[in-house]
Amino acid sequence: MSAEHSGNSINSRKIIVLDTTLRDGEQVPGAKLNMRQKLEVAQQLKRLNVDIIEAGFPASSLGDFQAVQQIVESVGDSVSITALARAVRSDIDSVYESIKLAQSPLIHIVLGTSNVHVEKKFNRSKDAIMQMGVDAVKYARTLLPHVQYSTEDASRSEFEYLWKTIEAVVKAGATMINVPDTVGYAVPEEFGDLIRRIKDRLKNLNDKVVLSVHCHNDLGMATANTLSAVRNGADKVECTINGLGERAGNASLEEVVMGIKVRENFYNCHTDIVTKELLRSSKLVSLLTGLDVQVNKAITGDNAFAHSSGIHQDGLLKDKNVYEIMSAEEIGGDSMELILTARSGRHAFKNAVEKMGFEPGEGDDFEQLFKQFLALADAKKEVYDHDVFYLLTKHRDIPAADRQLFELDSFQAISNNKFPTATVQLRRGEETFTGTAVGDGPIDALYGVLKTLTGMDVELKDYKINSLSRGTEAVGRVSIRIEHQGKIYSGRAMDTDIIKASAQAFLNGINAAVLDEQPAMKQG
Ligand code: KIV
Ligand code: ZN
Repeated sequence: MSAEHSGNSINSRKIIVLDTTLRDGEQVPGAKLNMRQKLEVAQQLKRLNVDIIEAGFPASSLGDFQAVQQIVESVGDSVSITALARAVRSDIDSVYESIKLAQSPLIHIVLGTSNVHVEKKFNRSKDAIMQMGVDAVKYARTLLPHVQYSTEDASRSEFEYLWKTIEAVVKAGATMINVPDTVGYAVPEEFGDLIRRIKDRLKNLNDKVVLSVHCHNDLGMATANTLSAVRNGADKVECTINGLGERAGNASLEEVVMGIKVRENFYNCHTDIVTKELLRSSKLVSLLTGLDVQVNKAITGDNAFAHSSGIHQDGLLKDKNVYEIMSAEEIGGDSMELILTARSGRHAFKNAVEKMGFEPGEGDDFEQLFKQFLALADAKKEVYDHDVFYLLTKHRDIPAADRQLFELDSFQAISNNKFPTATVQLRRGEETFTGTAVGDGPIDALYGVLKTLTGMDVELKDYKINSLSRGTEAVGRVSIRIEHQGKIYSGRAMDTDIIKASAQAFLNGINAAVLDEQPAMKQG
């Protein structure tokens, strides 16, 4: 129970939660998700009970367009779906075509209002830009009844021009106004003031229009700015799981939601988020993107509910409220971690898969997965969450019938002070490729031979190998840039052998790039 929970949320104001993990969050270098992974996240967002999912930016690529369509098919019957468009007809058409079958589709249009955006980005007059926004909204309203207009860089805009734009687009038919702190420049008092001023005028103009905020975390204030906006009248918040997003990220959904819940009497409002799903959502997004959650991250970090000092432990034993303002159970934590073995059976295995936020599948699909689990459990004796994750990603992302991805057949890496050498055999479909390279060290040699064998123009941006806190496994992580695509991908792999974990992580990064080039394969 929260320290200040009134238990009377029915009387308080409901705050609409839009999750943009699959749009703003997915823009993060290396966080690209394939189709299957996006659907896993969308399913989890449904369990979390978010009001609106921003599913992508369909005009950006065919892959993005198809992903939005599939998300609509998968969860659009019960969650409102939106996708982003610039203020041009072709973008709005792409959004409309990709979301139109959702039960409650929303077109999201973005256009800048700050001087730097109007003058430097568009090199046009303020009136011309405002007209562009008005025309875009009018056109979108011919397609759908719900249209959100985002005044990009609102926090650095001249207030009277910002308001003139809001007034014009509302008159043109916008049903939601989103006020973004695009570059994370705002501070809570100032941002709260801005929202209060807009809210006061908006109430007189059209009190049905929803006022929304979208804050970035460049100064570490995205959550504080979002909550200050809520306090000052915002009806809707835009957030991402784990605070993923451009640069320093967006306001973290778990922080904003628990801020509102724990301090409900202060904010006098509530969300409909199922908070018991927060930890599971955070873990799933972290596993799928390969981006770790810092251990001391509020709400979902490993240490968020760990008490280490003797004084604190003593206090807690006397009464939990001495040092806890919320309980781990409220966010879905503290459930016993069951160690899976070959004797665990289908029920326990299914439970572990679901606990990680994945769909266990049904019929043959599940039986095949379970068979692979039994083989792994026989080999390893104890199976942990990360093993289940590895099993699932192998089973789901690399369908047996689909052999276009590179697989590691065999490898050898030799460390010495003269000629560190690596020899690798890869498989792709029916073909095998074998090669040897010498490098500055065994990993350099290994990555050299992998680059040659895959024929990919790869630059290694980052490489990490860490031991896991439990067991003897190591996790390898790489970030690579594929030169001809100009894109960054991340790869991650676990193994008891650090050379194998390193090789597999590199290969997983390359396979992510291969998948990205062939959207049809992403559907797995
Ligand atoms: O940060 C931003 O301004 C955005 C808009 C598209 C809302 O992401
Ligand atoms: Zn943003």
